[in-house]
Amino acid sequence: AAPATVTATGNSTGAEPTLRAQQSTYLTTAQGGRLPTTDHSLRAGERGPVLLQDHHLREKITHFDHERIPERVVHARGAAAHGVFRANGAAKSICRASVFDQGKETEVFVRFSTVLGSRGSADTVRDTRGFAVKFYTDQGTWDLVGNNIPVFFIQDAIKFPDVVHAAKPHPTREIPQAQSAHDTFWDFVTLHTEATAHTLWNMSDRGIPRSYRMMEGFGIHTFRMSNDDGTTSLVKFHWKPRLGVHSMVWEEAQIAGGMDPDFHRRDLADAIESGALPEWDLGVQVFPDTEDQMFEGIDLLDPTKIVPEELAPVKIIGTMTLTKNPTNYFAETEQVAFHPGHLVPGIDVTADPLLQGRLFSYLDTQISRLGGPNFAQLPVNRPHAQVNDMQRDGMHQSAVHAGVAPYKPNSLDGGCPFFAGADQGALIDVPVAIKGEATREKPASFEDHFSQARLFYRSLAPVEQEHTASAYAFELAKCYEPVIRQRAVDVLTQVDQELAESVAAKLGLPAPGPLDLDPVDVSPALSQVGSEWPVSG
Ligand code: HEM
Repeated sequence: AAPATVTATGNSTGAEPTLRAQQSTYLTTAQGGRLPTTDHSLRAGERGPVLLQDHHLREKITHFDHERIPERVVHARGAAAHGVFRANGAAKSICRASVFDQGKETEVFVRFSTVLGSRGSADTVRDTRGFAVKFYTDQGTWDLVGNNIPVFFIQDAIKFPDVVHAAKPHPTREIPQAQSAHDTFWDFVTLHTEATAHTLWNMSDRGIPRSYRMMEGFGIHTFRMSNDDGTTSLVKFHWKPRLGVHSMVWEEAQIAGGMDPDFHRRDLADAIESGALPEWDLGVQVFPDTEDQMFEGIDLLDPTKIVPEELAPVKIIGTMTLTKNPTNYFAETEQVAFHPGHLVPGIDVTADPLLQGRLFSYLDTQISRLGGPNFAQLPVNRPHAQVNDMQRDGMHQSAVHAGVAPYKPNSLDGGCPFFAGADQGALIDVPVAIKGEATREKPASFEDHFSQARLFYRSLAPVEQEHTASAYAFELAKCYEPVIRQRAVDVLTQVDQELAESVAAKLGLPAPGPLDLDPVDVSPALSQVGSEWPVSG
């Protein structure tokens, strides 16, 4: 029998109508009182003032006044779909999670997003894209919260507020909306040169996907898997679109964005509605779980680094098909809450310092974005596995909890089923020895900021390299401060001298010189931004 303290056990993916689905044939108040009209306020005479006693008027307007919730602090603009993940069994030898059992089908909800634009911004901007997948597994919810670019700007989550502040719209004029160039963004990424590889990916054609259906997805961090024997492996996740990877060139993106700022969300919804169901294969690169957590000299805990597929091939472990559009944008796409710490037995985190900070941030932000601690009860966030969390009360509590003893063990509510199943548990899968003294120092391998940027740039076809140089020149031309533009091309010399020279020439700058990474105080000039914003080169 189910334990007495079961809370939310609903299996709804959010698409089904709920109890308050407004199905009656006549109009009512929120309390179900029948209404004769909703078009006319109650007034003291035909030409007199409106009466405070008109409850319907006040209820209707009050609810409207509170319809908006805060948009996500990043990834505010998104589009989503329901689907299914089918495992091919290839991961079973390394991972005991049931989602990877051969032939197993698991419902998913996927949200794609831009990172920096506001909720109403355009789709075809140059930016990183979010690729977040919620797997409603029978062992609890697993979220794979990734991006379409396999490296990240920073190595340590403590810098996340800083990079986002630098990249969000300029404080004086609140433009641009996305990661078009502006002084603070370029100031940050040229002073924090660990951002070089991610910035290069953004400036390449990867920065403007043709369609969400044609993007790769990456878990970025290294995760730890364990199998039925307790043997562990380190893995990196990859989504490979069946339609291949395709981008827009800059001019196409400008036209598409001008004609239809909703280009990507329309494309996704239209494709699903017409039966052209988008598909991705999920793959993993697998590495031995060695004590140093390095592979071929690459630090697996550094989220600014990839492991080239030539060194570690991607092994396909299943396929995801998106099958159904959301029926209500707010209830599903807006209220969905992903978290990199939503894990199932067999999948665990590593000590990547970026991932460690993310484990704190998502729940914290969702408590304010979704109005309290009970948002896991919202239909789209409800696990499809049984929930027995002993959490009680709080804002927007909608469960009516049975039992009197929300603690374990107890002698009143039927004993202790929780501990009986503890050997199947998640989150403490692998006892990892932790040693060392408290320090803010980082490993020497984290100091390599350019080798992988160089690798990526040199892997591009000549036309892609040309697009990349043009993108740098276009975006940097929007920088007000010459010193930041110059520093950006100086940094590029560490990636590729010809790239740096090409960008410098397009900007009309002198040939790039040696790197000087000392911050320069340009704030007096920046404070005048407004009248002399340079025209693009
Ligand atoms: C949201 C990915 C790093 C904080 C998101 C979303 C994605 C994502 C895909 C949107 C989820 C959705 O569609 O609802 C990533 C990736 C990262 C990364 C791939 C690095 C590998 C970080 C870091 C932090 C952070 C370091 C903070 C320390 C947030 C916050 C949100 C968010 C606060 C909004 C969540 C919400 O309101 O529900 N991230 N992120 N992210 N991310 Fe990250």
